Amino acid sequence: MNSYKITVLPGDGIGPEVVTEALKILYAAGEKFGFSIETEEALIGGAAIDAAGVPLPETTVEKCRRADAVFLGSIGGPKWENLPHHQKPEQGLLEIRKALNAFANLRPAKVWDALVSASTLKPEVVKGVDILIVRELTGGIYFGKPAGIKIRDGHKIGFNTMIYQEGEIERIAGVAFEMARLRNHRVTSVEKANVLDVSQLWREVVTRVSADYRDVELSHLYVDNAAMQLIRNPKQFDVIVTGNLFGDILSDEASMLTGSLGMLPSASVGGDVGLFEPVHGSAPDIAGKNRANPLAAIATAAMMLRYGLQENQAAAAIENAIEKVLTDGCRTADISESGATVLSTSEMGDRVAAALE
Ligand code: IPM
Ligand code: MG
Repeated sequence: MNSYKITVLPGDGIGPEVVTEALKILYAAGEKFGFSIETEEALIGGAAIDAAGVPLPETTVEKCRRADAVFLGSIGGPKWENLPHHQKPEQGLLEIRKALNAFANLRPAKVWDALVSASTLKPEVVKGVDILIVRELTGGIYFGKPAGIKIRDGHKIGFNTMIYQEGEIERIAGVAFEMARLRNHRVTSVEKANVLDVSQLWREVVTRVSADYRDVELSHLYVDNAAMQLIRNPKQFDVIVTGNLFGDILSDEASMLTGSLGMLPSASVGGDVGLFEPVHGSAPDIAGKNRANPLAAIATAAMMLRYGLQENQAAAAIENAIEKVLTDGCRTADISESGATVLSTSEMGDRVAAALE
């Protein structure tokens, strides 16, 4: 029997609650599909700042490096908001992504039929939407140097550098084309090549890589147009490949097609150990209240099985279980419509576990 070592980083806010539900489902899937999960917890984000004084202690990095996969809840909260930049919880997240070389962030935005009416957009616009955003995660303006705040000519200036090496663009484009081959064979590359030099290089390199993928249709969009097209006609997209900052923004936008940020999973791969986290944040306002939607975390567990542990059957079974509970009318508060029974975080987890049987 395969046994997998998972380093679990519950983090802050609703992180621990949704992680508990995801683990519940992983154990249930293990029983059904014949693998076992061994977990080790580690600190990140605000929880790490409180306990160890830094957002990403070295011991956490070590525990992550020796795992088969890393599962993360969410980080951040008002308590740590006023700390200097490099001491904030968010810094821990950026550092662990970098430390694991998890450069390819896969963020699917799929509209489940049962949730079509939970979106603020018209049903005919969102029904059937199935997009995969491939976001470059360890480069671009998030990490570019120089960056800082200083005085120039008597004025305070703030600056960051959006920089991509050819190699970084090549490898993320490769991931996008490979993903498209498993889907509908279309890639849209998103940048701002009409203004930014870094985007001109991005377009040039993606175009070059596409020569190795003649079976995949490549198109290019400027990011402002892409933001508009996502709302106007999201069904035109299959795979979207883009840089770190644009991917951050567009993935939040795409989440709203699906009704709730509480539905979206993600996988960050490319290095030796993958990092798996729901797209949503720590939702401090509902933390500890057993109200959070655990479905993003549960869907993230499915992505971990697929992209981190090669347990494809179990991954598909979890996704089917999510679909089933949604079809059965199970809702958490964020996706509830009038008249629906609202389940708590743990009840939703129980329902998915039961549906897996
Ligand atoms: C995300 C988040 C993070 C990001 C923050 C919390 C650093 O918004 O995962 O999308 O910007 O990457
Ligand atoms: Mg974000």
